[in-house]
Amino acid sequence: MSIRESRLVNKIWKAQHLALSKLGLRSYARAHKPILRKYLSAVLKATPHPTVIETGCIRDATEGTESTLTIASTLMGRGVFYTFEISREHISVCQELCKPYNQYINYVEGDSVENLTKMAEEDAFDTIHFALFDSVNDGTHIWKEFKAVEHLFKRNTIIIVDDVLWGGDKGRLMRPYLEAAPEWQTKVYNVEYGILVAQKVDEARGDE
Ligand SMILES: C[S@@+](CC[C@H](N)C(=O)[O-])C[C@H]1O[C@@H](n2cnc3c(N)ncnc32)[C@H](O)[C@@H]1O
Repeated sequence: MSIRESRLVNKIWKAQHLALSKLGLRSYARAHKPILRKYLSAVLKATPHPTVIETGCIRDATEGTESTLTIASTLMGRGVFYTFEISREHISVCQELCKPYNQYINYVEGDSVENLTKMAEEDAFDTIHFALFDSVNDGTHIWKEFKAVEHLFKRNTIIIVDDVLWGGDKGRLMRPYLEAAPEWQTKVYNVEYGILVAQKVDEARGDE
């Protein structure tokens, strides 16, 4: 493991995070928002009307990660945005927090793997330009979400998965797969519990 990915670097980040939290700035201290904004903005530059998906919407008003809100407020109605969420209660929490943007968000209630598979089979999306896989801390489930739509990722698609370094399972199958695949370029941010960003740089054989 490189120094950049070391536990020490993560501890330094966590100390900063704790200090900001103590000052009541926890929501500003989370790393998800700037990373999501940065990469989604890059996608928007290349594709003004992208198709964006996330699995797992905001579940709690105090968690501060706020992916659904960050994505919707960055898109501002450009493209199409689907969030796949199993809990009706969490959808309600999210709708409350995303009030100004709900008309731009398609909430798909139910199991993410089932719904992604079904919608992909029904050709609901042509290409997926940006995906955040953030449903359940289970590497097998996240892998199944990815596999359900993998054929829809084209050159310049960005994928984000968190909790891939410390104590999380989400990247167990996905991270080694993407890191070994020549058509994907990956980067791991040693913040939060490790955030993996992958960009498709080439078409896989069979995509062309
Ligand atoms: C970590 S939270 C998502 C956090 C959110 N992305 C954010 O940034 O605030 C995980 C969410 O995934 C949902 N979830 C769990 N299992 C799921 C499944 N099988 N299908 C769809 N959503 C699921 C949970 O109900 C929960 O709301």
